[in-house]
Amino acid sequence: MRKQNLYSIILLLSCLSAFSQNSKIPSSVENIEVKIDSVLSLMTLEEKVGQLVQYNGSWDLTGPASELGSKQKEDNLKNGLVGSMLNVLSVEATREAQKLIMENSRMKIPLIFGYDVIHGYKTIFPVPLGETASWDLDAMELSARIAARESVAEGINWTFSPMIDVSRDARWGRIMEGSGEDTYLTSQVGVAKIKGYQGDDLAGDLTIAATAKHFAGYGFAEAGRDYNTVHLGENELHNTVLPPFKAAAEAGVATFMNSFNEIDGIPSTGNKYLQRDILKGDWDWKGFMVSDWGSIPEMIYHGFAKDKKQASQIAINAGSDMDMEGGAYESSLVELVNEGTVDLALVDDAVRRVLRVKFKLGLFDDPYKYSNPEVKKNISYEDHRKVARTIAAKSIVLLKNEKELLPIKPTVKSIAVIGPLANDKDAPIGNWRAQGEANSAVSVVEGIKNAVGKDVKVKYSLGTALGTSDRGFLLPLEINKTDRSGFKDAIELAKNSEMVVMVLGEDAFQAGEGRSQAKISLAGLQQELLEEIKKVNSNIVLVLINGRPLEISWASENIPAIVVAWQLGTESGNAIADVLLGKYNPSGKLPVSFPRLVGQEPLYYNQKNTGRPSNDQHVTYSHYTDVKKDALYPFGYGLSYTQFEYGEVQLSGSEINSEKNIEAQITIKNTGKVKGKEVVQLYLQDIIGSRTRPVKELKGFQLVELEPGESKTVTFPITKKMLEFYTANRVWEAEDGDFNIFVGGNSRDLKSSEFTFKN
Ligand code: NOJ
Repeated sequence: MRKQNLYSIILLLSCLSAFSQNSKIPSSVENIEVKIDSVLSLMTLEEKVGQLVQYNGSWDLTGPASELGSKQKEDNLKNGLVGSMLNVLSVEATREAQKLIMENSRMKIPLIFGYDVIHGYKTIFPVPLGETASWDLDAMELSARIAARESVAEGINWTFSPMIDVSRDARWGRIMEGSGEDTYLTSQVGVAKIKGYQGDDLAGDLTIAATAKHFAGYGFAEAGRDYNTVHLGENELHNTVLPPFKAAAEAGVATFMNSFNEIDGIPSTGNKYLQRDILKGDWDWKGFMVSDWGSIPEMIYHGFAKDKKQASQIAINAGSDMDMEGGAYESSLVELVNEGTVDLALVDDAVRRVLRVKFKLGLFDDPYKYSNPEVKKNISYEDHRKVARTIAAKSIVLLKNEKELLPIKPTVKSIAVIGPLANDKDAPIGNWRAQGEANSAVSVVEGIKNAVGKDVKVKYSLGTALGTSDRGFLLPLEINKTDRSGFKDAIELAKNSEMVVMVLGEDAFQAGEGRSQAKISLAGLQQELLEEIKKVNSNIVLVLINGRPLEISWASENIPAIVVAWQLGTESGNAIADVLLGKYNPSGKLPVSFPRLVGQEPLYYNQKNTGRPSNDQHVTYSHYTDVKKDALYPFGYGLSYTQFEYGEVQLSGSEINSEKNIEAQITIKNTGKVKGKEVVQLYLQDIIGSRTRPVKELKGFQLVELEPGESKTVTFPITKKMLEFYTANRVWEAEDGDFNIFVGGNSRDLKSSEFTFKN
């Protein structure tokens, strides 16, 4: 025992001297575990609890502490009673905060600095829902890598991203933060983002720790109301909600964040089954779980804990490792351990997890590693913008293109660009904009003007303002419902132009956290403006700037061309112009269904059949009588300027088993006149299961680029793994039986075949 302590001290001294000399100790796994033990053995209980405390750094660390309570926080930092800070935003500020620890505390355990880098740090990429529409995993990995680089340049080494909450309700404001309604696609995107942020080695100079959030079920908030109660049965939890998190854990994500919601009466922060049994038990994941902001004390409001002390007890027992700005662990965990209510081993386990991430990041080798002003000097923000433009173009989805309005022909000499978002430089930046500047995006008007020659007249008219107030993160926009003063000008312009690009949709602060909406139609007077313009010029391309699916049934019937441009980030207008003018042939596909009416929500393609499946004869059963049952535009949908023809699905065999896989092949031909890219999607249906199975589920996709007239055969291996689900036996397994296989360009129009599986 004594010997062991001595050994620990020697090890600790060697690592302390290492970071004072700024040397690099190789952070191999075994090495790290030994070091963690040694550090832990020297820590007091107070210091251990300190590692589990995260502060918001809203006060000015490079000046005198001003915020109420910040003096106390500063003292706690000096005493080594804080493990992490969030929202400390510059290399100078993170250095100052780190210095408080390194120069004053006994143990000198470096802080880790977190921030919501959701779709870019300074260079803003499309909102995650939009970027997912590219279905381009390499692109998504790249934008995460760039975001990591820009974060490191500002002192950040931990992002609270990716959000991998499957979400199927367009009313939920945070739908824009995730990858939409599908489990498989969300899993793939989550893994790509984690790879992008973390690289192959967390200790790399330009990589940061990622967070899989929100664990779990947050996307299932009742009726899309943010923070709301979640009713989720075992089947849905395991088969729909958890797989992206399992994939993230397997991909080595450094941290998880739990969620504000409860599931079936248990708030996630206090959910031992989720956090300890599944994540840290069954999945054997070794990172740490940060609470969501204040979610530990929020268990008091949930009616699950009577005070902060009890909330801490519940949270630590359940496996919540770090308290984000909740003040609960800080105020009660030491006491809880001392009085024997909380087992010290639980605290040790949590601290161990936090230290592990810090070691992996290389912080013990050099605590100032991420506070290096030199990093910024080597970043080419110009290059990042170029990538942002390409990714933004890939994220655009073409929903409709009649009258061959698009791409805009060189013969068109006058374009009216109309609408409240036509010259708006802020909406495309989105709501979680990190340090992307307000009003810094390229607007659609600017983008089109940049792209066309001098002989094309591009004229802009606002038509109607979307809002009547200032806007900002804490200032939701007040929607304009009365001011039509701009209509006349816009109508006049439309009359005198060959075609109209109408840019409508949502403000940056209409979607996002705490911004759920009961209406998802075009807000304010936008619909009315669109109808008025249509009366004078029907050559309209409707460009939507949106963070969620919108209700656009009227436009779908009456407007010849519709483009979904999401909130595309810094290069928005240029990317939109690239698509409108044909420089980029659109290839995006919807990651979420667009409903006919908001009343259909939650709406998703991979539903169950029910005992009375609706078909053309029986359309009223299990659906509504006043609207068609399906989506206006389904999951996976998106057009191109060319056309793709699908052959039949060819299977290499009709039966698969544990030893023998089969392959599905399909030939796709570009039958149009221009080169194009298609996202070929593979869906499977397990026809009979020990739990009922969805009518189809995405299980694979491939991006194929084809020259005009060219054909390519795409091959998908069909493996036993793809057939597995969480069965009535409460395990993941494949059940014997018949399966349907579907391949096509969206979740509705598919070619099919079938096969059998036998264990
Ligand atoms: C609350 C949000 O739910 C979460 O996603 C975010 O990371 C934290 N606040 C920190 O800002």
